[in-house]
Amino acid sequence: MEPASGIAHGLIERLGRSSRLVVLTGSGVSSESGIPTFRGEEGLWRQHRAEDLATWEAFERDPELVWNWYDYRRRIIADAEPNRGHKAIVRLEGDFDDFTLVTQNVDGLHERAGSVGPVELHGNIWRARCTKEHTIVDLLENPLSPIPPKCAQCGALLRPDVVWFGEPLPMEAYELSHQAASTCDAMLLVGPSAVVRPAASLPLVAKHNGAFVVEVNPNYTHISALIEATLIGKAGVVLPKLVDALLDRRSGMRSRSDRQDTGAENEVKEQTAS
Ligand code: OAD
Repeated sequence: MEPASGIAHGLIERLGRSSRLVVLTGSGVSSESGIPTFRGEEGLWRQHRAEDLATWEAFERDPELVWNWYDYRRRIIADAEPNRGHKAIVRLEGDFDDFTLVTQNVDGLHERAGSVGPVELHGNIWRARCTKEHTIVDLLENPLSPIPPKCAQCGALLRPDVVWFGEPLPMEAYELSHQAASTCDAMLLVGPSAVVRPAASLPLVAKHNGAFVVEVNPNYTHISALIEATLIGKAGVVLPKLVDALLDRRSGMRSRSDRQDTGAENEVKEQTAS
């Protein structure tokens, strides 16, 4: 029988039994908060060329243009609120002792929803980095003024502390995410299109090491055929149902094992008494 969530019983059972869970999110998880994705119909890369806005060469050529684009995105993000998808992920985090949230998003919405220390693979749009001394600073002013912003210490140009095309991922974030993907026994993908590497290879690393990999996405992705299941639908709709069903299952499993423990304890007590 299908559970009330409409999500296959076997899938809930298998995810429920896992003890090391990784959730990997992409821009899809924030789309219901009103933040555009990159490759969808209204996606940012449908209206702009990544080469003009998200490369070091573009920044060297025209830092004002690049900062104006980031300022525009920062304003959209500042007006947005975490959605039901972000909040469902927080509930998952609370139920697993070994839980890692890895995100390709730079919007900071996971933390605003209450997630603790998400691993940010592509940086954070609310930070900037000095192009001369490489120091990283919080840059919360919204809207930005002046554009482009300068380093308060040395006067050099600041750049957004995000990963651009052709740049390596931050070493620590990459290592943490790779380690988590290699050792998890389940991975949940929420709204990455799974085309941008190296993040897109994390589910394959997990799969290769025997993890059960499931995605939540309104569309099939490049890796749908390689993983266990695709739950078709929006994160804000599917995730709360999935998490409800999963937490129910896990709490049932815990109370059964508590009862068994108590039963065994009583048996020992009875034997001792007789
Ligand atoms: P994409 O725009 O490539 O993919 C967004 C994914 O989210 C697609 O698979 C959509 O089907 C899915 N999606 C849309 N709405 C959704 C919803 N409500 N719930 C769940 N899923 C939904 O965005 P990313 O994969 O995040 O990098 O892009 C990865 C990287 O490419 C970005 O970090 C950025 C971009 O270029 C850099 O700028 C370096």
